[in-house]
Amino acid sequence: MEAARLLKNLEKEDLRILMAIEIGMKRSDYVAIENVRFYSRYPMEETLYRLKKVHKYGLTIRNSAEYQISYKLNSIGYDVLALHALVEKNVISQLGPAIGKGKESDVYSCMDNEENIYALKIYRMGRTSFKNIKKYRSLIGNRSHLSWLYVNRLAAKKEYKALKKIYQLDLNIPKPIGYNRHIIVMEYLRGKELAYYKDINIPQYIFNEIIDQMKLVYQKVGLIHGDLGEWNVICDESGNILIIDWLQSVSADHPNAKMLLKRDIRNICSYFRKKYRIECNTKKILKEFLEE
Ligand SMILES: Nc1ncnc2c1ncn2[C@@H]1O[C@H](COP(=O)(O)OP(=O)(O)OP(=O)(O)O)[C@@H](O)[C@H]1O
Ligand SMILES: [Mg+2]
Repeated sequence: MEAARLLKNLEKEDLRILMAIEIGMKRSDYVAIENVRFYSRYPMEETLYRLKKVHKYGLTIRNSAEYQISYKLNSIGYDVLALHALVEKNVISQLGPAIGKGKESDVYSCMDNEENIYALKIYRMGRTSFKNIKKYRSLIGNRSHLSWLYVNRLAAKKEYKALKKIYQLDLNIPKPIGYNRHIIVMEYLRGKELAYYKDINIPQYIFNEIIDQMKLVYQKVGLIHGDLGEWNVICDESGNILIIDWLQSVSADHPNAKMLLKRDIRNICSYFRKKYRIECNTKKILKEFLEE
């Protein structure tokens, strides 16, 4: 991964310049050199030298169209800052190979100092453009300055918080390990999405596990997954599962909560019914969720 490779060549002064640009980006798209100097509290000479260096490494985008030159971070620059922070905090020590690519994220394996292996998810919303603006609105509210930095940071925070909330229940949902900016680190299950399996040995057991766990999450911490389906359940050869991808989760008091809960249950039911001939009744399961 580009950012991890580049991180090795960067000095703390370079990182401080990147952070200065990051601060400036809260107020505007591009940050003028004078403001980079201000936020970094370096002399102008040092600021210029560092800006040149991080730009040469491909971590920034330069705008020289205006009367003064300004910079913004690109996604690699932002990755560098987040990875650096996670290493500093001893959350991770090393990045491994890519293990998945979602529409809005890249997922890698990683390792900590004790050689525990985790999954590291980097949010990439708006990678191409902010086409589906409605989706992001629920994250950013009515802010006018729509920065991808901010959107992805909020996304990571939201998923991390959901995982934290669920963690106390001790279920097959990734244990949250740490997060910074647009990256979260969590428990990893070496396997593949349920959807990729031609066949599984114990479909009834796995179906029950998913339903029972979702019921506990709903009843004990008041959360609904919101995007439940065969693509967001990881399964290994021994039948261990991990229910992932909690960005879309909503709380039970959300106006659409019932509808989303029903849709989650329906998705799982229809998959297991069609593929494994499991008998299940969405209405009946939904009722069980709402009772107890
Ligand atoms: N904790 C994990 N353990 C193992 N694999 C994981 C884990 N988290 C993510 N993955 C892998 O990365 C892929 C993408 O992760 P996830 O579904 O969370 O991202 P996403 O961007 O929301 O995807 P999409 O929007 O396409 O559903 C998963 O389908 C899976 O292959
Ligand atoms: Mg997914």
